[in-house]
Amino acid sequence: MNSVFQPAFLHNKHAFVTGGSSGICLAVAQQFAAFGAAVSILGRSPEKIERALPSLGPAAHGYPADVRSFDAVASALKAAHDASGEIDILICGAAGNFPASALGMSANGFKAVIDIDVLGTFNTCRAAYEYLPKPGAAIINISAAQAFRAMAYQSHVCAAKAGVDMLTRTLAIEWGPAGIRVNSVTPGAVDGTEGVRRLAPDEESRKAWMAKTALGRFASTGDIAALCLFLASPAASYITGAILVCDGGLSLA
Ligand code: COA
Repeated sequence: MNSVFQPAFLHNKHAFVTGGSSGICLAVAQQFAAFGAAVSILGRSPEKIERALPSLGPAAHGYPADVRSFDAVASALKAAHDASGEIDILICGAAGNFPASALGMSANGFKAVIDIDVLGTFNTCRAAYEYLPKPGAAIINISAAQAFRAMAYQSHVCAAKAGVDMLTRTLAIEWGPAGIRVNSVTPGAVDGTEGVRRLAPDEESRKAWMAKTALGRFASTGDIAALCLFLASPAASYITGAILVCDGGLSLA
């Protein structure tokens, strides 16, 4: 049987990953690089990008930019296109999070997360459109269980990720006829990430999160990267507008 997951099945493909200098999206970038893709990563911190690049192979490039700025993202995408060609796979993973009650955050705190997650995802997709192969491109937006499970201290993230998912579904309708697939991936609590360090900073809160998760463990970044690999592969060629949950059952409880 022919598997699409041959070594180097992404050879000659270019993956552009926002938030790709750390956490979930660094693992996603590493997974794509391991299967032969040229990888471009975008993040706010040049230092984090420099630290990440050696793990992404010789064809990797890094672009420091804030996804809240359309012009900054557009410049980065143009540079990535000039360096590595059409963007076959676009991962929108840049996100912000901090635990705070609605009364414990300012309007600007709420706006920071909405702007990074929702506007940042729009900016990236909108600016990338001209560089995507049509047909053939795959866009994957990184969402979160907060999109459909209300959580205290997460009003900004719940609102933002629900917005990201609706953007996914809308772009899937608008861009499907051009042959672009757009899907969301929904991680739950992923170990070793900035998000989990903030949401579960001590052993007691880690145990509480695991107790809420049917599979009784945190995800690894590799769990999420594997799902992104599948979504970018020909095996997923008829999947668009889907919200694919990879949360160990967290959102069921
Ligand atoms: N509680 C309440 N408000 C907070 C906060 C907290 N823990 N952390 C930040 N804010 C508020 C700030 O006070 C500020 O509002 P103000 O101007 O009214 O004081 C606003 O958020 C913006 O803060 P700023 O420091 O300028 O951050 P930023 O614009 O660079 O945004 C954040 C970045 C806020 C999302 C920051 O938390 C971050 O970078 N997090 C790391 C990324 C991350 O968490 N990734 C994991 C995603 S799951």
